[in-house]
Formats: sequence, C-alpha cells, structure tokens
Amino acid sequence: MAFDFDMIQRVYAGLGERVEAARKVVGRPLTLSEKILYAHLSAGTPTQAYERGKSYVDFAPDRVAMQDATAQMALLQFMQAGRSKVAVPSTVHCDHLIQAKVGAVEDLAIANDKNKEVYDFLASVSNKYGIGFWKPGAGIIHQVVIENYAFPGGMMIGTDSHTPNAGGLGMIAIGVGGADACDVMAGLPWELKMPKLIGVKLTGKLSGWASAKDVILRVAGILTVKGGTGCIVEYFGEGAESLSATGKGTICNMGAEIGATTSIFAYDEKMGDYLRSTNRADIADAASAVAADLRSDDEVYADPASYFDQLIEINLSELEPHINGPFTPDLAWPLSNFAKAVKENGWPEKLDVGLIGSCTNSSYEDMTRSASIAEQATKKNLKVKAEFTITPGSELVRFTAGRDGLLDTFEHMGGVVLANACGPCIGQWARHMDDPSRKNSIITSFNRNFAKRNDGNASTHAFVASPEIVTALVIAGDLTFNPMTDTLINENGEAVMLDEPQGIEQPVKGYAVDDAGYQAPAEDGSGVNVLVSPTSDRLQLLDSFKAWEGTDLTGLKLLIKAKGKCTTDHISMAGPWLKYRGHLDNISNNMLIGAVNYYNDQTNSVKNQLTGEYGEVPATQRAYKAAGIGSVVVGDENYGEGSSREHAAMEPRHLGVRAILVRSFARIHETNLKKQGMLALTFVNPADYDKVQEDDSIDILGLTTFAPGQPLTVRLTHADGSVDEFPVNHTYNEGQIEWFKAGAALNLIKMKQA
Ligand code: F3S
Repeated sequence: MAFDFDMIQRVYAGLGERVEAARKVVGRPLTLSEKILYAHLSAGTPTQAYERGKSYVDFAPDRVAMQDATAQMALLQFMQAGRSKVAVPSTVHCDHLIQAKVGAVEDLAIANDKNKEVYDFLASVSNKYGIGFWKPGAGIIHQVVIENYAFPGGMMIGTDSHTPNAGGLGMIAIGVGGADACDVMAGLPWELKMPKLIGVKLTGKLSGWASAKDVILRVAGILTVKGGTGCIVEYFGEGAESLSATGKGTICNMGAEIGATTSIFAYDEKMGDYLRSTNRADIADAASAVAADLRSDDEVYADPASYFDQLIEINLSELEPHINGPFTPDLAWPLSNFAKAVKENGWPEKLDVGLIGSCTNSSYEDMTRSASIAEQATKKNLKVKAEFTITPGSELVRFTAGRDGLLDTFEHMGGVVLANACGPCIGQWARHMDDPSRKNSIITSFNRNFAKRNDGNASTHAFVASPEIVTALVIAGDLTFNPMTDTLINENGEAVMLDEPQGIEQPVKGYAVDDAGYQAPAEDGSGVNVLVSPTSDRLQLLDSFKAWEGTDLTGLKLLIKAKGKCTTDHISMAGPWLKYRGHLDNISNNMLIGAVNYYNDQTNSVKNQLTGEYGEVPATQRAYKAAGIGSVVVGDENYGEGSSREHAAMEPRHLGVRAILVRSFARIHETNLKKQGMLALTFVNPADYDKVQEDDSIDILGLTTFAPGQPLTVRLTHADGSVDEFPVNHTYNEGQIEWFKAGAALNLIKMKQA
C-alpha cells in the first residue's frame, strides 16, 4: 500500500554508522531505544550525548499518521506552510467519527452521510499534498499502520495516543498533537525530552488462557497509570521473542495507559513472519541484514539493571490471565482473584455486554483465539447470556476473518460485527439500554476504561481483558465466571467446561482483501482543490496570523487573571467542542471558559473594560478584537498543562490576545504559543502576579530589541493612574523570535518556501 521502501532503505543504510557514533559519544553499549533515537536526530550523525529525562532533543521522524478527528486542524495548519507536498510520508485514517449502532454496513453509510464534509476535506487535502488517505471503513489507524507502514528501527509520530502500537514491529512510535504532526510534515524538526528507559524482561512462554494482553495488564498493575511517564518501555528476553508481532503490538498499544512515551520490542523472527505475511518480505530481508542494530547491545541484555532506569521481570510461564478495572486500567486482577473482588466490591455480577476488537486487539490471531471459544458455545450447546460485539481493526483483517469463517462463528454465537472503526472504544456507541442510569458491567478487549469512556454512562463498570476472556465471559454472562476452573450448565442441563483458546498467528491461506479502502494521492496535486464549504460550521480554512507590527505593544487590556490550575482543558474544553476541531472561529467560543477569574472566583465571567459589564470570556475578547484592542491573559503556575492540544494556543491568537503572562508554563503549551506567534512570558518575580489589577491597561516594552536571554518589561497602568513596572522573562531562542516576528512559525516556513 505504497509503503516507502526507498525511505526504509535510507534509514537502514545510515543506521550502522549513526549507532556507532552514538556508542562513542554516549561511551557505553546502547539499548535498542537509544539506537533508534540517536539514529533519528534531525542534526544527523550524533556528536553529543543527551541526558535521559533532562535534555530536549530535535528529531527527524520517518513518518506521520493522523486520525480523522485530529487530522483536521493539523492539515488546515499544514496548508499554511506553503509546501506543495508533505516532507515525510504521511497518512490519514478515517476511524474516529463512525458511530456503532446497528452493524457495519448501516453504521458506515450513516457516518459517510453525516461526516461527508469532513471526509471530503480530508480526502481532497490528502490528495493535494501527497498524503495517503484511508477511507471510512478501511480500519483503525494503528492496525492499518502496523499492517502497512510500521518497520523495525523506524521512528514515527501519530496524532493519537495509541500510536505506540507500532512498537510491535520494532518502531519508536509516539502519540502527539496536530501541531507536531504539522511541523514534521512541513519539514521542521520535532522536539522531545530524551526519554528515560524502563526495561521489561520477559522469561518463559505463554500457555493456555494467558495472552499478550495479560502482559500489559500485569505491567499496568505494577507501574500504574503514571508509572511510564516520560519513559520508553523496552521489552526483551526469550519470552519477548515468543510473542507474535501483533501480540507485541497489543502490549505497546496499551503502554499509553501507563503514561509511557512509547513501548518497543527488538526485531526478531516473529516480526519477520508478520512482515512477510503482510506482503513486505523486502522489509523483512532488509531488517534481517541490519538485525544487530535493531536490538540492544549484548552487554545490555547480559546486565539490564545497569542500562535501564527501572527494570521489571515477568515470567510468562507463570502469568495468569488478568481482568483490569473498573474505571481505571491499572486496577489489575489475576483471574483467580477477580470473582472475589467483584463480590467484595459490589460490582454488578451480571455481564451486559462484551466487546472485542479495537486497535488494541483485533489481529488475526486475536480473532482466531476468540473464535475458538465462540464456536464452543454452539458445539457444547450453551446459551449465550450477554450481548457481544466484534470490531475488526482493518478491512484486511475483516475480509480475511470473513473468508476463513471466523465472523460467521461470532455471528452464530449472537455477535454483531461492527464497522472497522473505533466505535464503542471512543464512545461512538449508540448503546441500547433499558435504563441508562442502571449500574451495569461491560467487558472489552480495548485499552481504556475510564468512567463514561464507552457509552457515556457513569454507572457502567467497564473492565478490560483479552478478547478470548471477553468471549468466555459473554457466554457465561457472569463476571464471576472463571473459564479456567468453572463449569457452565448447557441447554441439556449438563455441566461443561470451555476448552483453552487456540490461535493461529498468520492465516494459513494468507491475508486477502477486496478493497482495502486506500486512496493514493495524486502524483502532482497542484491542480487539486481542497474542499471546504464556506458555510460549514465544522471546517474553516485558516488565514495566516498577522506579522508583528514592529513596535512595542501598548494599551492592551487584561482579559482574565486566571487563578490556580489552568490546563489545556480549561483553555479549550473537549466534550461537545470536539465537533469544531476543524473550525477555529467556532471552537474559539470555548476559549478559557473553564478558567477561574481571580477577581470573582467564577468561570467564564470577566469584566469588559470597555463597558464595565461582566461577560463571557470569548465574547469579551471578541469585543476587544472588534475595537482593535489587544489583550493579555495572566496565569499562575504550570499554565497550559495537560494535553498538547494546539487549539489552546490558536484560539487566543485568533481572537487577538497578544501575550500570556504567567508564573510558569507547561513546556508543550509554551512551545505551542511560540509557534502561533504569541508572546509567552513569565514573571521574573512571581509575586508580581499580585500587582495585576482587574482594570489594568498593559504595555509590553523592549520588543524592538527582543533577544534571547534578555527580559522584556511589563508596565501596568492601574485605574487610579498609578503605574507598576517589572521585568518578565521569556525562553525564545533566535529562531523562535523569528516566529514571533513573522506572526507564526508556519508563516516563516511559507516565506522561506516562497
Ligand atoms: Fe480508536 Fe480506541 Fe484505538 S479510539 S484508535 S480504537 S484506542
């Protein structure tokens, strides 16, 4: 599917030399993660060592992948860069906007109708700029990526938190925001703090009911939802080599649930098998030729404690199946303890629905293992007690599973096959329920199980397990059923046990597909029109932000002095606003509506200095904008923490805020502000925050000599005419000052292109 073999060969051609150079500068043997990171420095061959957990490093990823919800703003921004094509191979995947209601065919037809303008935009913009486009129904981004694009030793970014799924094929794959994707597609370096490393040594071999999913469910229990933050989790050992590539993908995928930057396995025969079976024998051969650089150095495996920041060991031979939850993925229960936990905690024992598939667990192997349980329902004359849905991860898997009779087996059991899309995993689930507030239990083979995630219902207790455990529990209709020890009573009144699952890693007859749902971009996209209706309320082409006027900024109004925590969610709320992700003006109506006003302790209520009246933050800012007056947002510590959502920086810029002045910034948000041409400033003396008054007029001085390391000055003129003046810091380097002057980083790229 148009994977770029030339690019992969280029990566492998330079790999040995770069790894050797990295070994020299670091001065010791290297882990796999370090090899790949150092081989992808945007500056080329490594000339210095970077400190894990401290140094910020510029990287040059090989690929970009985007899902349809986040791709909209990423691509609207990319259009501002003035490039005729993306700088690195990139793809768009339409998977998030399809709602599961009845079944694959009907649901897809409804989604195509409802989201037509978004799909038309994404298809046309992809066609124009050389981006591969995967249509609605083609599959879920991470499954499609591992089937088509992931390669051992590569580095990619994706605008979705489960991008690390590609670690199953030995790739460093990291989830990012749309602005990062835009930068890499525009040819800019991508910055990341050098991650710390957690080693997970897997010994032994899985058997019986235990599966790859149980490895990550166990790891989540050990590390908890925060334990992987800022780290790459690297798996190794004979146990790692015994897992299928897609099983490895499941483990890496769900590394997102422990906050890991990404997770990875070394190249091995299982990866080679998967590459060959998915029509990529040439990559398998090329990877085998550089295999020594696609694994950690031998010294690392011999003495891992000396090379990883943290080390965990798991014996797969002793690993029990796990069920995690409810409400958090790190509440890990070995199967033998689970029934007791259900009873003790009063969780609903009756299972309402079991859902298998999603990007986490929809490989052919997963489907065969689950089907081997499902077929026992019929064979053993068991009445299936709970509802059952199956979400294939891609059309390739769906078609192959259909050909091989697996989907029939599921349907026989009463299962409903949903579209190849996120569906219930992202809450796109029109669940039919007698009483939506009823306390109830569901179990999925997905990755996340926070309250309301799947069906928007706070009373739903969602548990996470392997697809084969989910299937067994669906048959039983009872959360306390342990298929390893318990019997079920069949329609003849006999007590029967379920046999252990049996799986096949790769289809015996090979993978097959009729129409994978891929649309290749035009060779020359210059004549392609990007389709955006001027009357759309979901999409809006962006205008370039204005360049700096060349003077100090004077007479600005205070828009809001935010009190306490102000995360990207306070600045640009999610929920119903997600619909407007591709429409900057409409989504700007949520700007700072969650921030607490220091002066009245209320949200979304600030004083309009032009009228003296209190009003909503966006409306007040729009009034200043209409009057041609700039404004300043003042904030407290760690302003902008949370997600990397670029809307939190774009909205104030769009509505005419000129500077964000805070006690301290969350780093990603600070960088996002700089990229959008905003002034991101911090009080030199944090107590100066207290000098800011509600009716202040604000001047920012020193901009004509704006230079790295030199503070600027803020002058407050208070309502009574008195004045306070104090220095403010910034962290702009030369290049970032140019972004400010040009009005935005993308304006600068555009000027350079021209
Ligand atoms: Fe989609 Fe759920 Fe995966 S939202 S990308 S299937 S985690």
